[in-house]
Amino acid sequence: MGDHDKLRELKAKREKVIQGGGPKRIEKQHAKGKLTARERIEQLLDPGSFVELDMFVEHRCQEFEMPEQELPGEGVVTGYGAIDGRKVFVYAQDFTVMGGSLGEMHARKICKVMDLAMKVGAPVIGINDSGGARIQEGVDALSGYGQIFYRNTIASGVVPQVSVIMGPCAGGAVYSPALTDFIFMVQGANMFITGPQVIKTVTGEEVSADELGGATTHNTVSGVAHFMYDTESDCFLAIRKLISYLPANNLEDPPVQALGDMSAADIIPELREIVPEESNRPYDMHNVIIGFADDGDFFEVHQHYARNIIVGFARLGGRPIGIIANQPQIAAGCLDINASDKAARFIRFCDAFNIPIVNLVDVPGFLPGVNQETGGIIRHGAKLLYAYSEATVPKITLIVRKAYGGAYLAMCSRDLGADVVYAWPGAEIAVMGPDGAANIIFRKDIADADDPEAARAEKIAEYRSKFANPYAAARRGYVDDVVDPAETRRKLMDALDMLSTKRETRPPKKHGNIPV
Ligand code: HXC
Repeated sequence: MGDHDKLRELKAKREKVIQGGGPKRIEKQHAKGKLTARERIEQLLDPGSFVELDMFVEHRCQEFEMPEQELPGEGVVTGYGAIDGRKVFVYAQDFTVMGGSLGEMHARKICKVMDLAMKVGAPVIGINDSGGARIQEGVDALSGYGQIFYRNTIASGVVPQVSVIMGPCAGGAVYSPALTDFIFMVQGANMFITGPQVIKTVTGEEVSADELGGATTHNTVSGVAHFMYDTESDCFLAIRKLISYLPANNLEDPPVQALGDMSAADIIPELREIVPEESNRPYDMHNVIIGFADDGDFFEVHQHYARNIIVGFARLGGRPIGIIANQPQIAAGCLDINASDKAARFIRFCDAFNIPIVNLVDVPGFLPGVNQETGGIIRHGAKLLYAYSEATVPKITLIVRKAYGGAYLAMCSRDLGADVVYAWPGAEIAVMGPDGAANIIFRKDIADADDPEAARAEKIAEYRSKFANPYAAARRGYVDDVVDPAETRRKLMDALDMLSTKRETRPPKKHGNIPV
């Protein structure tokens, strides 16, 4: 065979792999509104940046009719490329090849890119679209999943890991995404451990696949997924945006961007108008965030889940920050089980990847209720305290309005290690709200008064003026400064700048034991 023939052979082999499951199955994939694995990688990465690995890998299963089965690319496309010029590793399961099912060699391809990503310190983005363990390959397929789960865990906190669910992701297969940092889902995709048919057989419950494990369910009810999009293209744009905030690995700092239109000296008078005079009136905390963030830009994570707390990324003076903020518009911004889980996980991500955190506090307390107590708010709420205390990244807290009791402490108070604590002039920092407090400590005075209602109002006012303000806390140094809301951006930027060389270490240990 001459050189020419060899090149022709190479070309033919490549073309065969690129065709995946062939035109018919590609058509079927498109008819479902889904892109193919290669089209997805193309949309996700910078044009022309993808370098493919392991195109010629084949399965070696001898069972059933597998020896006759040709599975181009082993049902998964793997390699690396760039997002905004920065290196990322990717894999995309190819549903057109035996339903993207995962066999021994399919898993080995995925593990190879994960290993490379760990060696060079770059994020891994996995696109899932698969019928699960390749049934013909039995325990070899199971072992493949085990190899991936193990690597997901070892890579956790070393390189960012992103999972994208664009088709079925069922059975134990769900645990790879679950072990990664962020899960993106598109409408039509689903994730479940046991599907509707098994559930019907075992428990008699009837449920559709979408209701059980669709994007909406996992983004609003279970909290398994962090993002959802109607289209695959919107989803890829969002992944690119997420990557823009993150360092490539835990030894790097997050990338600093050139400042947009807003300058450090900006005074933002609109910030004075957001919080209502009456302390029980709700308002949208998003307005505070977009009020001070660079270019008014906020990339929210877990937007549809536990909406009483807001978490996400923004930039301040070009530096990425993670924001954790109570949302007075939902359940008065109370902390509950789901909010604690959501925030604790986000704080730990930021801490693992050197992203400073800014906390915006307006919290009346932990949500009262039998469901909360019996559901374990004690151990779930403890995650929040643990995550804040454990974090060594710069921690800046701004008390916007209420900060009461245990919730005041839990929202990154000075005592949990906040490096800088600011309060707006309307802040109320106390053990409990003035109404409750006055009713307890002045119960006797109120009962003995000629006009108990007038006395109650007077005592409430007295308590409010004494304790429900930022100055009692500022007098003790729990609050570093009371700031004019209009100066918030400048103050936060100064604090971030001052803390940019922060070093804080913890006693050596194997690992802590976060309440789970
Ligand atoms: C082998 C599979 C497969 C699998 C799908 N295919 N899943 N082959 N192993 N797990 C093949 C189909 O035979 C078919 O081949 C092609 O992929 C496309 O599948 P269709 O059924 O035609 O597609 P669709 O109608 O869209 O249905 C998709 C599906 C369904 C819902 C995912 O294929 C399905 O239920 N598959 C089985 C799911 C499952 O039970 N997997 C094991 C889960 S247990 P042809 O040649 O016709 O194109 C598991 C354990 C992991 O994953 C444990 C880890 C610890």
